Amino acid sequence: AKIAALKGISQHARFNGNPHAHVKKSHKRARPYVEVSDDEFDVKKSGKLKESSSKSSHGSPNAAGPKARKKARLSLTSASPSKTSIEEQRKQLPIASGKDALMKQIRENDVTVLIGETGSGKTTQVPQYLLESGIAGKGTIAVTQPRRVAATSLAARVATEQNVSVGSLVGYSVRFNEAYSDDTRIKYVTDGMLVRELLGDPLLSRYSVVIVDEAHERTLRTDLLIANLKTIQKKRNAPSDAKGKGSAAKLNPLKIIIMSATLDADKFSSFYNGAKILYVQGRQHPVMIYHAAVSQSDYVDAAMRTFFQIHTDRPPGDVLIFLPGQEDIESLDKAIKLYANRLPKDSMGVLVCLMYAALPPAQQSKIFAPAPSGMRKCILATNIAETSITIPGIKYVIDTGKCKEKRYVARDSGAGFDTLLTRDITKSSAMQRAGRAGREGSGFCFRLYTEDAYNAMPTSAEPEIRRCTLTSSLLQLKCLGQDLEELDFMDKPDQETIASALKTLYLLGALDNKKTLTKLGREMASFPLEPNLARAVVASKEFGCTSEILDIISVLSSSSKLFFDTTDEREAAAEARRKFRHRSGDHMTVLNVVRAYAEVAAAEGKGARRDWCRRQYLNDRCLVEAMDIRAQLRTVCERTQIDWRVSCGDDEQPVLRSLVRGLVQHAAFLQPDGSYKQVMGPSVVKIHPGSSLCDKKVPAIIYDELIYTSHIYARGVSAIPRSYIGEVPVLNRKSN
Ligand code: CDP
Ligand code: MG
Repeated sequence: AKIAALKGISQHARFNGNPHAHVKKSHKRARPYVEVSDDEFDVKKSGKLKESSSKSSHGSPNAAGPKARKKARLSLTSASPSKTSIEEQRKQLPIASGKDALMKQIRENDVTVLIGETGSGKTTQVPQYLLESGIAGKGTIAVTQPRRVAATSLAARVATEQNVSVGSLVGYSVRFNEAYSDDTRIKYVTDGMLVRELLGDPLLSRYSVVIVDEAHERTLRTDLLIANLKTIQKKRNAPSDAKGKGSAAKLNPLKIIIMSATLDADKFSSFYNGAKILYVQGRQHPVMIYHAAVSQSDYVDAAMRTFFQIHTDRPPGDVLIFLPGQEDIESLDKAIKLYANRLPKDSMGVLVCLMYAALPPAQQSKIFAPAPSGMRKCILATNIAETSITIPGIKYVIDTGKCKEKRYVARDSGAGFDTLLTRDITKSSAMQRAGRAGREGSGFCFRLYTEDAYNAMPTSAEPEIRRCTLTSSLLQLKCLGQDLEELDFMDKPDQETIASALKTLYLLGALDNKKTLTKLGREMASFPLEPNLARAVVASKEFGCTSEILDIISVLSSSSKLFFDTTDEREAAAEARRKFRHRSGDHMTVLNVVRAYAEVAAAEGKGARRDWCRRQYLNDRCLVEAMDIRAQLRTVCERTQIDWRVSCGDDEQPVLRSLVRGLVQHAAFLQPDGSYKQVMGPSVVKIHPGSSLCDKKVPAIIYDELIYTSHIYARGVSAIPRSYIGEVPVLNRKSN
């Protein structure tokens, strides 16, 4: 019966040619993968805090012998989380037995670097310890996360542990969404939000402790924060007599804690002048790693086959599948559900849960709840589940070996931009992913790539500051009176990338020709938006169309797409979409959708609204999020004295003019041969097939972004008169 079920899968999955028969073949041979040593994950006793200074070379953390392994296994049986109260769960975390030693070190040191296995309790426990031990004093504890979904779900967990509701003692603040009050003492924030807070509170004076979590990810915002915290601490912790009775005497001191799941701690420590490094040893049971025998061209299909092989062959235990992004997660979700229904009646059920950055908070809690008995939980996640979020119950990991990475694409013209690329992961990620299978007992990791591919992976990722656009950061730093060139960074940004950011900000009018911040630049920085979109909002004041621009930009800023890429009912979807189409292109089309949606939303309930979206082939989730974003942007408008109610009615010209101010570097003119050439760059671009202007020949276009596939495609396109480009003030000035 099992084999038959598998055969059914391979037939119905609509993947022809079947180049990846390894799963089926292996079914007979029972050795699907190349087995490798499990030494890497054969770790260690729990609960001891080991200490090291940055100078000493700390040995391998995995050096524990067989004795330690036995101990770890024993502790597994004594710690069954489902049966224990939250208080007991807390006490059983590996970090708990090191609590006193840890607090002693933090009390004595201004900066501490804390390293520990994922799941040992760093992120949830350390802030609570700081509060309980009084180290945080009267100030708030900020805990930064690179991702929004981690910040909100951690706040929910810690609020539960403290037996309070989110937004009171424990809160969070992420872009376009927050829950905190004056009582909040532990605040989970995205690194980006804390950088934004610098604009209003340059010394972060309301925080007594800042914990930079997941520091190993080295996001651009984390690096900005690490650099700024160094200067802030110098100011706040200066001996009070150093500046006489000046204002320094009144400043409350700041503690900095850098937390990381990987061992690459020396760099953080030496950046903070040899800060103390502390280790908390987590529980890690042996994980058996298998590699694919041949490389897989379709990792979603391979993941599905591997999942059902586990499901039909292996004992109970949940499965965690790592995929690069939301689209792959959604298509695998569909495929697994489809084939789970065809399993023989007597087989175990499958409960699929999803985890990715754009997941609404209400759906997050599902992944933490244990599967009902007789069900196997299958979690489809992005690299968020590598270290940011620990999901209990995982025994099997399937690793596609892929992730999405933001990367800056430089252009000769200097008009570079970031794009999300699906890439191979690093060795460090591969290890973290496999490690997720060994949290509660020995586990298994199936890598959908060959051992050679693993060996060819780079050890760890390059920090974002070396590979992303710096435009938005440069603008924020300018507002703080700082400069990218001068700030003390762990890794210095590239000169070329800085030059490109300067050029963009100049073209947007945020900097003048002496690289000085303008009033306009400061106004733009108050919006939690990329500078080009912020520019369009500010321009809308001049053109009298703020209401329209906010409608459009809210959708563009949403984390999911408005239109589904439907493969099934393509005709019907196109038909439904035609109603919203505006002759000028995609931006006004988006506006038409938002207007229609707002009407339905005002007239009918939530259910009807969702129904309507389904009938129109629109993504309800995108629109719900967009409405939240719009509300936030309206608040910012009120603060900056921009009247968001001002509307231009049905006239598209003011809207397009405002957009051109922001998208001036994203403009292209029609060439005699019918192609479009960038106005400020050398590339020839095509209009994306998904655009309402596809195949149209218009004199000039602006676009939201470029997609690199077989061609360079412009996505989110509107037709504009060429003269609009000439109206951009900076360009005007030049020609005068
Ligand atoms: O930060 P670190 O990886 O060291 O661990 P943590 O995030 O503090 O997680 C400690 C424990 O809390 C883990 O065993 C998680 O499973 C649990 N936890 C949870 O049950 N629900 C959450 N939303 C977050 C954590
Ligand atoms: Mg953590």
